Amino acid sequence: MTSTMASSKAVILIGGPAKGTRMRPLSLDIPKPLFPIAGRAIIWHSIQAASKLEGLNEVILIGFYDDAVLAPFVRAASQDFPNLSIRYMREYQSLGTAGGLYHFRDSILKGNPDQIFVLHADIACSFPLEQLKAFHDKHRGVGTVMGVKVPRETAHKFGCIVIDPETQQARHYVEKPESFISDTINGGVYLFDRTIFDEIRLAMEEKVKRNADDPTLPQDDQLRLEQDVIAPLADSKKLYVYQALSPWVQIKSAASAIPANSLVLASYGKTNPFLLRRRSPTIIAESRAAVKSKSSKTIKAEIIEPCFIDETAEVDPTAKIGPNVSIGAGVKIGYGCRVKESIILDNTVLDKNSCVLYAIVSEDCKLGPWSRVEGSPFDGDKQSIAILAKDVSVLKEVHVRSCIVLPSKILSKNAACEVLL
Ligand code: GTP
Repeated sequence: MTSTMASSKAVILIGGPAKGTRMRPLSLDIPKPLFPIAGRAIIWHSIQAASKLEGLNEVILIGFYDDAVLAPFVRAASQDFPNLSIRYMREYQSLGTAGGLYHFRDSILKGNPDQIFVLHADIACSFPLEQLKAFHDKHRGVGTVMGVKVPRETAHKFGCIVIDPETQQARHYVEKPESFISDTINGGVYLFDRTIFDEIRLAMEEKVKRNADDPTLPQDDQLRLEQDVIAPLADSKKLYVYQALSPWVQIKSAASAIPANSLVLASYGKTNPFLLRRRSPTIIAESRAAVKSKSSKTIKAEIIEPCFIDETAEVDPTAKIGPNVSIGAGVKIGYGCRVKESIILDNTVLDKNSCVLYAIVSEDCKLGPWSRVEGSPFDGDKQSIAILAKDVSVLKEVHVRSCIVLPSKILSKNAACEVLL
């Protein structure tokens, strides 16, 4: 058993340009792992959770984006988390969720970490890494996966885990099963002992053998963590499940960015994680909070918690914002505007009396006076938010309802439930 002072590293699997297609049109401009949730890139939040762990001083991002795509984020995050070494390692092609771990095993194991956290990039939760580690340190398995309960009717969309209720040992794991086996699913957060690399090597050898026996199989270098490593680990009784009770959201589609934004804003509450920023933005701590305008005159806008408003955004005192709103840098919110349950990205301008509800408005958009960009709230599993891609203009009094609008469009007519190309 590992001691509580075991050293660890974290690996975040960030995928690449061929992934994240369901995040379109948002991922056309911003790679999915860097899409801002509560004012920071999706993966910033998992790095910040890792930064709090004693004995963890390195985070490795593995994916197949160009180095140049990740470099500015890695530089900024390294300043935000000076206690961490943050590196990006690029797969020469998509290697699958375990292929990258295998390919970069020497770098991951450098410095002899006892344990390795592996995190999917596309989740939002409170990342209970400390609790997961305490749980892991008490059993003799090779790995612990964070389990999450989901409604029974949605379980088939995830990796499902049958658990021994006494020991919390995983008995069986099936990725996206055709029939119901369990409502506890794989939450995309793992903690492994370093011996996981023996299991990954075995899985790779198995795959090579299968491919040699059957040349009709795809002869690629991909290895899947879930199907090729985790499922056999469960069958051989070396996997345990830490059941997370706090809310969890998977960020697959663009629409899921809205509940993810709410979840992250709510989980931070009044503890401002952004204080460690060089450029500390305004997290509003009271319902009628002071927002500083660019001219540094303090103004009053009605803010309904929780919200994130970048310090460089300008908000008219007559605007009403929140709950669950994130507003990016350089955004201007004009007279009488209403923004609720939405994400507004950098440099977008809302002219007077415009309204944004259940929507994502990307960078450099312009909303004319009295215009409305509106989606609808969650209804069970369904949500139809409105999405404006970059540089879209909605003209005066135009109403856009539950539409997806591609970049650089000018909307001069009302539209509902359409994809506007
Ligand atoms: P589905 O859920 O099956 O639709 O696929 P997905 O690619 O959206 O999710 P998956 O469960 O396969 O991926 C989990 C995490 O691993 C996500 O954060 C992906 O970005 C990442 N990922 C997926 N494939 C790769 C890969 O080939 N290499 C790397 N480094 N990361 C990957």
